[in-house]
Amino acid sequence: MEAAGCKSFTENPFWRFATYFSALQIRQAEATRLPTIFTITPTYTRLEQKAELTRMASTLLHIQALHWIVVEDSVNKTALVSSFLVKSGLPFTHLAVKTPPNVTKSRGALQRNLGLKWLRDKYGASRPAEGVVHFADDDNTYSLDIFQEMRDTKMVSVWPVAFVGGLRYESIDLDSSGKVRAWKVKYDPGRPFAIDMAGFAVKLDLILEKQQAWFNPYAKGGYQESSLLEDLVMLEELEPRADNCTKILVWHTRTEHPSTGLDRGFTDLAVEV
Ligand code: UGA
Ligand code: MN
Repeated sequence: MEAAGCKSFTENPFWRFATYFSALQIRQAEATRLPTIFTITPTYTRLEQKAELTRMASTLLHIQALHWIVVEDSVNKTALVSSFLVKSGLPFTHLAVKTPPNVTKSRGALQRNLGLKWLRDKYGASRPAEGVVHFADDDNTYSLDIFQEMRDTKMVSVWPVAFVGGLRYESIDLDSSGKVRAWKVKYDPGRPFAIDMAGFAVKLDLILEKQQAWFNPYAKGGYQESSLLEDLVMLEELEPRADNCTKILVWHTRTEHPSTGLDRGFTDLAVEV
């Protein structure tokens, strides 16, 4: 049984508020000490867009010290994404750049590059706080664990990705000392960095230091990741994560386009989906 004195202490609204407030302050202080995760997400207008962004936001809301850089593939920022981001409760930056018609091979490349440019413009001249940058397509599935894995990246961290390259998962072969030896993939294993966009994170300092490292929007299929990583890091410098690349913490899921064949004006177009 609780002692009478203690009970009145915990029931006292002032002390309850003070205890809650100091717990909140401790959490905030912990969050400010963490390196910030910058999540760059290209996105484009289609029927399932808001559903994808909702799924992503529901994941990201669990992560402390995260800044979401959402880059629309459009000339202007859309009202849908603008109001979505404001309501999301996440710290965010909202940008837009339209992919020109001659860029056909690499989806999301120009948008990711604009995200990199924003980081370099904002933090390039100053000594930034610690940070890590990764690229998160709006249709993938992310475990909460992957953010913890990437947070302490020194240069470039890597991990397996499920449902990509014609396999259950693409992974990475490590030598006995835990260094990256080869890519465990079937699709074009000769690529310099045979890894999906969802499979790596880069320290912010490195992005700021290597100002000329960009995604090549004209790279052929599967080479977009290499076009950036080749300018940032060497194979032997990669830092394996997810229990020496033995755990799947990210899935390259793809959403089926919804069938609306019966709609033909049946539903109210004023209702945002
Ligand atoms: C694969 C890779 O996982 C992507 O990282 C890579 O960008 C893409 O191929 C490619 O190089 O084309 P995949 O599922 O085929 O992914 O591509 P999407 O998910 O359709 O697109 C990747 C990202 O770009 C998404 O965040 C998507 O919203 C965005 N995107 C797609 C645009 O911004 N504009 C588009 O026209 C299409
Ligand atoms: Mn995708």
